[in-house]
Amino acid sequence: MRLDKFLCDSLGVTRREATILLRKGEVTVNGEKKKSGSVKVTEQCCVEWQEREITVTGPRYIMLYKPEGFVCSHEDGSNQTAFELLDEIKMDALHFAGRLDVDTTGLVLITDDGQWSHRITSPKHKCEKTYRVWLDEPVEEDYVEKFKEGIQLRSEKGLTLPAHLEVRAEKEVLLTIHEGKYHQVKRMFAALGNKVEALHRERIGDIILDEELELGEYRYLTEEEVNSIWQK
Ligand code: URA
Repeated sequence: MRLDKFLCDSLGVTRREATILLRKGEVTVNGEKKKSGSVKVTEQCCVEWQEREITVTGPRYIMLYKPEGFVCSHEDGSNQTAFELLDEIKMDALHFAGRLDVDTTGLVLITDDGQWSHRITSPKHKCEKTYRVWLDEPVEEDYVEKFKEGIQLRSEKGLTLPAHLEVRAEKEVLLTIHEGKYHQVKRMFAALGNKVEALHRERIGDIILDEELELGEYRYLTEEEVNSIWQK
């Protein structure tokens, strides 16, 4: 992680204020005065401001635009992990608030706050997620109704919860679901005899993937975005 970002996160200052602290010579890393914000800081570094050690303490809430080919786990034998896209310290403390398949793109939330992620992933809270889905076969007339009624997935006992389907083109839909079963979207369409060609998550609760983010980029959530999860 860059030193200026470390200062922002630990002291709650803006990037500009961090630059000023650095220029004034108030910051040392392992006892050495540092004036550049681009200096890399790792977990092993001792960062001091005005001769007091500082650490990143507050919980972290991150939105990542996940590209295809990255898995949502800490380790994977054959694929890159989405964590490799983050420039953060204390990586072991972070986890995904709901995963995406390796070939799915879009919004992934990452945090070290277990209670917050539980609100997103626990079936009890029925947190909404919206996916843009590109299909192999055209959407059939009865799809909207079928998703509303619930769909019988293979090897599951009951029907899926009512889901909202908005048809955007002959083979493209927006699907909003309130649960997160394994491969749920792909299995829902498979149950109707169709196949998902590409899948992209646009929204979790009230948190929408930021259009300013490029594939593979991330940013911290705003306070309003973080709090929106508790208000559901
Ligand atoms: N449903 C799926 O089938 N895959 C995902 O990645 C997310 C939801």
